Amino acid sequence: MDLLSVKDLHAQIDGKNILNGIDLSVKKGEVHAIMGPNGSGKSTLSNVIMGHPKFVVTKGSISFEGKDVLELSPDKRSRLGLFLSFQYPFEVQGLGFSKFLFSAYKARFPNKKISVLDFQKLLKSKAEALHMTPEFTKRELNVGFSGGEKKRAEILQLMMLEPKLAILDETDSGLDIDSLKLVAESVNRLRGPDFSAIVITHYKRILNYLKPDVVHVLSEGRIVASGDMSLADELEANGYKTVLQKSAMGRGAEK
Ligand SMILES: Nc1ncnc2c1ncn2[C@@H]1O[C@H](COP(=O)(O)OP(=O)(O)OP(=O)(O)O)[C@@H](O)[C@H]1O
Ligand SMILES: [Mg+2]
Repeated sequence: MDLLSVKDLHAQIDGKNILNGIDLSVKKGEVHAIMGPNGSGKSTLSNVIMGHPKFVVTKGSISFEGKDVLELSPDKRSRLGLFLSFQYPFEVQGLGFSKFLFSAYKARFPNKKISVLDFQKLLKSKAEALHMTPEFTKRELNVGFSGGEKKRAEILQLMMLEPKLAILDETDSGLDIDSLKLVAESVNRLRGPDFSAIVITHYKRILNYLKPDVVHVLSEGRIVASGDMSLADELEANGYKTVLQKSAMGRGAEK
């Protein structure tokens, strides 16, 4: 059974069609990469999978572990083990980072009885693994964090919440070379039969570390090509033009 199964997904925002029939299946333990031009719908797809209320699903289905999630709130989806690392993490004034993480942790693992002290110890060890000082987690969530610090804060959440499926929306953008390697290594350490990921990126560099099982290209709200790492190599070498032309020719032949 697929861990995530997206079928013929269509979605709109403010009456404008953004996703025009997405089919995507992610199995347990797999890492998929999604590439695609700016504005092609990658972040929209992530938001729709997480249940962002702004987007209206007009057709199609999303199931996670065989369960239809379309009617579930984002909160419920994250409890099931879905996680999104935002392309643009929000600054939340007045909400302490560690306090936020503690509530998120309790919501994700309602049966784990963890004391505040043990939670703090766990958080400290995970933060250190990401070379984040404990002072960080005492600050307000993302407030005044640099671009790269926000991305690392997202990965810290990922490591604490141990999702079954993590969607990383351009987590690599804005990370310095060492941080990128650190983040990729952290994600690689999570890899195993109970962890899958969808990695959205514009660049091959992070994929060299993560070695995705499948690479997809999204264009105008559709997946127009899927393949292995050689697809990412081709895009890096030639840009999107050739891949998009091939797919348009393929669609022409279907008609
Ligand atoms: N709130 C909104 N109102 C109007 N249009 C929107 C809104 N949100 C997204 N869109 C449009 O949906 C399209 C897809 O946007 P999306 O953010 O999913 O692209 P993307 O593939 O993630 O691009 P990028 O690589 O730049 O991050 C864009 O044309 C965008 O302008
Ligand atoms: Mg985006």
